[in-house]
Amino acid sequence: MTTPTIELKPSANPLSDAEREAILANPGFGRHFTDHMVTIRWTEGRGWHDGQLVPYAPIPLDPATHVLHYAQEIFEGLKAYRRPDGSVATFRPEKNALRFQASSRRLAMPELPVETFIEACDVLVQQDKAWVPAHGGEESLYLRPFMIATEVGLGVKPANEYLFLVIASPAGAYFPGGVRPVSIWASEDRVRAVPGGMGDAKTGGNYAASLLAQAEAAAKGCDQVCYLDAVEHKWVEELGGMNLYFVYGDKIVTPSLSGSILEGVTRDSLLTVARDLGYEAEEARVSIDQWQRDSENGTLTEVFACGTAAVITPVGTVKRAGAEWKQSGGEPGEVTMRLRQALLDIQRGITEDRHGWMHEL
Ligand code: COI
Repeated sequence: MTTPTIELKPSANPLSDAEREAILANPGFGRHFTDHMVTIRWTEGRGWHDGQLVPYAPIPLDPATHVLHYAQEIFEGLKAYRRPDGSVATFRPEKNALRFQASSRRLAMPELPVETFIEACDVLVQQDKAWVPAHGGEESLYLRPFMIATEVGLGVKPANEYLFLVIASPAGAYFPGGVRPVSIWASEDRVRAVPGGMGDAKTGGNYAASLLAQAEAAAKGCDQVCYLDAVEHKWVEELGGMNLYFVYGDKIVTPSLSGSILEGVTRDSLLTVARDLGYEAEEARVSIDQWQRDSENGTLTEVFACGTAAVITPVGTVKRAGAEWKQSGGEPGEVTMRLRQALLDIQRGITEDRHGWMHEL
């Protein structure tokens, strides 16, 4: 199998500077896309081939394409940041590349070499560098690498053809209204993933499965659903699209990887950032009853959500059947905001990158 070198076929009609600047002034999340995308094909017997950077455009698909029927799809999310000197760097792309390979294995898809994943992201960011928002604000360029099964036919089996793509979208805060405490509905009946299932793979099916529970959370007036484990309906797993952290004074705790939790890159990075700042950081099982009890007795001082899109988002209110409580008085907690700043300062090149996480372009 050869590693493709990506051929550059740039757009003859990129958006004008004025149009791009208007978008960058208020990008929202996932609403606008840059001028280009990267595509690489995989065919059985041939491997990865035809890597190209092309103008961003719809991809024609036969109605019988596998992914449209059997959801053989995986994706990633990572960000490129503008640094004070104007240069651009991505955060831990290798970690995303490795998780992409793990998701491929779970969905019986071919593994993209780590260096090809990183090259594809680099080529796109390099070409669309002007789309990376200015240093100093909350914004960054969100990269969405993904892979779909493109074999045509209705037999249920691993496809013999795949398409890998990377698209990019300038991104502000994930939750409307900027960085504000969000509210959580703890669902005690809907589950996200079961032991032995696909919960630790980043695949669209897990997000499709979250939509009904997410709509129920919205009907309860909440921003996000929180899932409990599928066996005992007791242990906190994760939110609809991000991981969770609990703050006990000087100790932060995140639910341990159960096989049905997605191993978030931000989740992982925070274990290290917290220890660097002198906090204790651990992975442990946390039950929904413990969450309520420790919030009510004051030992659980803060809760926050984390993910590439969500960055670190404070949790202000929690609701479950028959109960409702506030975290840190409904305000962003001090530890939450300190960790948030420390992580963002590394990502934006303000503080030293002690762990070699930033990938400069
Ligand atoms: C990310 O944080 O990158 C995700 O894929 C989560 C999604 C809710 C946008």
